[in-house]
Amino acid sequence: MAIELIPLPLPASADASKFADFGREVRGVDPGNPSPEQLAEIQEALYKYDALLFRNATVSPEQQYALTKAFDPESENYGHGNNKTQNTKKSILHPDLKTIPRVPQVQLIGNGTVYDHEGLAEAKLKHPSHKTFHKTVVSPEDDAKGVTRFYRWHIDAALYDLSPPKVTTLYGLVVPSGEPQVCRYDDGTGDELPVPLGTTAFVSGRTMFEILPDELKSLAVRAKVKYAPHPYVWMAPAHAMSTGLGIESEGLELPLEELPPWEEEKRKVLPVLWKNPVTGNLHFQVHPCGAAELLIDPLPEGAKREGALYPDGAHITDLKEVRDLLYKMQRPAIAPKLVYPHDWREKDFVLFHNRGVLHTVVGAFTKGEVRAFHQCNLAASSDPVGPSAEDVKKWA
Ligand SMILES: [Fe+2]
Repeated sequence: MAIELIPLPLPASADASKFADFGREVRGVDPGNPSPEQLAEIQEALYKYDALLFRNATVSPEQQYALTKAFDPESENYGHGNNKTQNTKKSILHPDLKTIPRVPQVQLIGNGTVYDHEGLAEAKLKHPSHKTFHKTVVSPEDDAKGVTRFYRWHIDAALYDLSPPKVTTLYGLVVPSGEPQVCRYDDGTGDELPVPLGTTAFVSGRTMFEILPDELKSLAVRAKVKYAPHPYVWMAPAHAMSTGLGIESEGLELPLEELPPWEEEKRKVLPVLWKNPVTGNLHFQVHPCGAAELLIDPLPEGAKREGALYPDGAHITDLKEVRDLLYKMQRPAIAPKLVYPHDWREKDFVLFHNRGVLHTVVGAFTKGEVRAFHQCNLAASSDPVGPSAEDVKKWA
């Protein structure tokens, strides 16, 4: 039987015209056990719509791993390397993940204490909060009223040595119900977004590119990002912007010589735009917190120089300059009307195109609010593909 694809319910805040090709609920298939034909349909739909939702799913960790792996059969290890995060105690990701012992590619994430769970006798989980990461925090009074922030916009990726996973699966097993919150940007724009408690928020990398003015499209199509070595250790002492979209330039990053051993060849240099393997669309895929340098190619022959940024190319190593440029290009796409905040229900299984969207944890739970999710993504067998020569010619 063919699978059925239904548009996701959008919140009132969303500009529906910008979500016409984003997100679908999939019906008529068991995500834990798809037939080969259904799997092919799911794969095509994922790249076409960037996020798929299966309601009322029953999926074991083994099945979750199998579906995630089907997108990249040669991949095997968790996106950050199996158990690597636990060994790197200084990493900012360290407290957020507990590995399922039987299937180390699947992580238990959430909030509160979970007992006797898939071989884990007791797991103490903590929903990451902006309070431990942002430079400024919401006041206790506003916090009590349900005001919150985006935690950290990101792509799921180690960004060092390993290639960014193609897809991520998130399975909501225990979803606490509670009052909606208001996500405040606190960047002087007055922007805010009503969100369900504990939402995962998504934005489209395709939209992020498509809404840019021509001169920034030209820059994006010619640019590559060089990431810091061990970026999550590097950024751990630093503070994020109030929008969760990158780091404040205060010089707080761990000096390169204090990082765990690293090799220059293992640092990731990735295009700013990643080409969708099914649609051919370009997605603006940058993890702003880990970015260290920008490498910009000169304009191709015949391109108009008038108004072009860095027409002769550039290698930008000044962190603030790198971050300011990226922020200028990425901030428009996290406007409230362009964010899809998923309203989790128990047994929701979400599959998202990790090379086509950015996402973030949102909100804050109290200690007693228990949330348990299974998350899986796999370090890919190859790096994402950037713009083609024709793309550069078209957009530069
Ligand atoms: Fe993530």
